[in-house]
Amino acid sequence: MRSVQKDKIMSAKDAALLINDGDVIGASGFTMAGNPKLIPIEIANRAIAFHEKGEPFKIDLYTGASTGDEMDGALTRADAIGKRYPYQSHKGMREAINTGKIEFSDFHLSHIAGYVRSGFLKKPNVAIVDAVDVTKEGHIYLSTSGGSTASYLLMADKIIIELNSFFGEKMKGFHDIFIPAPPPVRERIPIYKVTDRIGLPYVSVDPDKIVAIVETNSPDGTRPLREPDETSNIIAGHVIEFLHHEHNRGRLPAGLPYQFGVGNVANAVLASMAKDPLTEPFNLYTEVIQDSVFDLIDNDKLLFASGTALTLSLEGQNRFKDEIDFYRDRILLRQQEISNHPEIIRRLGVVAMNTALEFDIFGNVNSTHVLGSMMMNGIGGSADFTRNAYIPIFMSPSTAKDGNISSIVPMVTHTDHSEHSTKIFVTEQGLADVRGMSPVNRARHIIERCAHPDYKDMLFDYLNYGLKHAPGVHTPHVLDKAFEMHIRLRDTGTMLKK
Ligand code: COA
Repeated sequence: MRSVQKDKIMSAKDAALLINDGDVIGASGFTMAGNPKLIPIEIANRAIAFHEKGEPFKIDLYTGASTGDEMDGALTRADAIGKRYPYQSHKGMREAINTGKIEFSDFHLSHIAGYVRSGFLKKPNVAIVDAVDVTKEGHIYLSTSGGSTASYLLMADKIIIELNSFFGEKMKGFHDIFIPAPPPVRERIPIYKVTDRIGLPYVSVDPDKIVAIVETNSPDGTRPLREPDETSNIIAGHVIEFLHHEHNRGRLPAGLPYQFGVGNVANAVLASMAKDPLTEPFNLYTEVIQDSVFDLIDNDKLLFASGTALTLSLEGQNRFKDEIDFYRDRILLRQQEISNHPEIIRRLGVVAMNTALEFDIFGNVNSTHVLGSMMMNGIGGSADFTRNAYIPIFMSPSTAKDGNISSIVPMVTHTDHSEHSTKIFVTEQGLADVRGMSPVNRARHIIERCAHPDYKDMLFDYLNYGLKHAPGVHTPHVLDKAFEMHIRLRDTGTMLKK
């Protein structure tokens, strides 16, 4: 540790005493990678102590994306969070959001840092950050996530650092910190290749703002992904066949980078691409770099991975640590407004693959809301990529909950990605390429190719009824029937007719 400010080293409990009711905290952490682990637990304990005395204690929490149980879980259990931005995936927090205990606002992940700097959101007065080193000049070297940490550090009045020796100083050099100038004087962001570095390997802050340093040696508390199941493997097969087909037709130039969303299906596709003998080695320009990066490396498929977080299982973290110098030339972490920036995604021609909860026959996608009202995780970066991708692909098993829910519906109950952005849909039933199709042809194609046989007739009946009775046949919706399948699910527990 070249860390200085030895007089600022203290326990997590003492550091938590610096946090007060009403504080707005900007924290590191993205999909459970690189969030502070000790201090949030002590803030939660402090909140509980205040509540026991009948006194208020709540903070607002801004992060990169979801964080681990030490932060989102502990603070939720302590009823210590007022507002939460921009993404989460914690079961307890999800419940608190859906019962109105936490005010959650779901942002495009590329937007949050800019929103904070523009003053659209309350300024974070404290930044709490997992870092691998801090120097006396105030250079802070981040750990496994870029997120929006640089902006929070620059804006906060007080900075608290968890100095984490798990990866330690060897992690230095993996980050490229760049913050765009404010409009209207913003210039182009000069990333022309996935490998381009345009900033500094550290965040530079006024060292006097650092008020506490808490030493720790903690791996990230990430969740292991499920081994790909049969359905995910079939979806992956359709995707790979489509990519080869596009390449053979000259519509998929060699060298386009890929983005993979979160979740089990996306992970299965990546794992299958790693094993596919016809898939040429490729680059990732993505958000989250997961364990599947090792499959790619082992199969000589990965050229370079640029992302904002390194979300690895414990086994993966140990492997990364043991072979860290090998990964130094292959992995780069950026701030999320750069990893997800529309300008770069369009310029590089990223092929984007994300997962839907449900999509409708006309091509609108819901990634976030169950029955239109219950938040699952959040939109994350899925729209940053989908809207700007060279080819956006949405994947989903054709049914959920033992076949009681069809993922293809007449009308989505919440729209995250509209028909104007989407192009390719894949389920284990097949793949629908709806580029250039009118809504009615899209509907026919999506039902035919993607819907589960149990739901095909129901969906065709809706379309045909609409073609006869809708006020217009361009997009033949019949409003009193559009949600019949969802209403049946709500009332009987299944979309199937009994
Ligand atoms: N209605 C209700 N529940 C549904 C559903 C539907 N239409 N479709 C799926 N589900 C449930 C599943 O049953 C499962 O429930 P469980 O956890 O109780 O088993 C859960 O949703 C997750 O589904 P799963 O099939 O395991 O998918 P996943 O892990 O691939 O996650 C999303 C799917 C959509 C939740 C996830 O990809 C997500 O949050 N996406 C939005 C953010 C995003 O795309 N980020 C990436 C951008 S870079």
